[in-house]
Amino acid sequence: MFAKDFLHSKAEKRKLSMVTCYDYTFARLLSETPIDAVLVGDSVAMVVYGHPSTLPANIEMMRAHTEAVARGAGAKMIVADMPFLTFRKGVPAALDAAQTLMSAGAHAVKLEGVEGHEDVIQRMTQSGIPVMGHLGLQPQSVHAYGGYRVQGRGDDAARTIVREAIALQELGAFAVVLECIPATLGEEITAALRIPTIGIGAGAACDGQILVLQDLLGMNIDKTPKFVRRFVDGSRCVTDSIARFDEAVKAGTFPAAEESYQ
Ligand code: KIV
Repeated sequence: MFAKDFLHSKAEKRKLSMVTCYDYTFARLLSETPIDAVLVGDSVAMVVYGHPSTLPANIEMMRAHTEAVARGAGAKMIVADMPFLTFRKGVPAALDAAQTLMSAGAHAVKLEGVEGHEDVIQRMTQSGIPVMGHLGLQPQSVHAYGGYRVQGRGDDAARTIVREAIALQELGAFAVVLECIPATLGEEITAALRIPTIGIGAGAACDGQILVLQDLLGMNIDKTPKFVRRFVDGSRCVTDSIARFDEAVKAGTFPAAEESYQ
């Protein structure tokens, strides 16, 4: 899958699936699945490093995780997040950050919002860097919102997001993530755009869906947002397996003869 294939998928009404990935082991596993693309999300700061927001993700962190994913992802398309403020310091700084991510193995970058950095988005798309937008709840703006809240409720807020989505399309973005907005607004934006919408808490009408991998695997034992579905009870699998290892070690049944060298 390449950025241009996202457009074909929309035209052919084929839904797109994406998950986040931050490391080699999961990238290897994802390379064996039919998933369309992986996102090295700045959510790595929360999921892997335990920060309360995505703000501490920086370009070095994103470079290291993009490289690790690229080593395992095989032919999968990799999108990497532009971390907090790296696209708000002018065109040269943004191009440097995008270059770091693309050199690390990303095939596209994702950035939040559009107002105030239209020049950056345009220069990147004109420079052959596929850009995925991210509208609705923009986690890098959590402090401006005063918390993680549904966006686009009320007519003015909804019109703003529709306007931003169209602007992103006109600036050359190949897709846009819509996070945490009413399903009706997700449907309206999806109908208004030629480029695909990838929803996360934006309803079933979006052209595709994305989830944080650890959330869909049920590995997250903290409270998850309403839009998360746990497709497996991963936390139970992990804790049960480790308890069984502990029991086998303490009972002296691990390692067995066939697990030992003669
Ligand atoms: O960083 C991330 O995980 C994301 C998804 C929520 C889309 O941006």
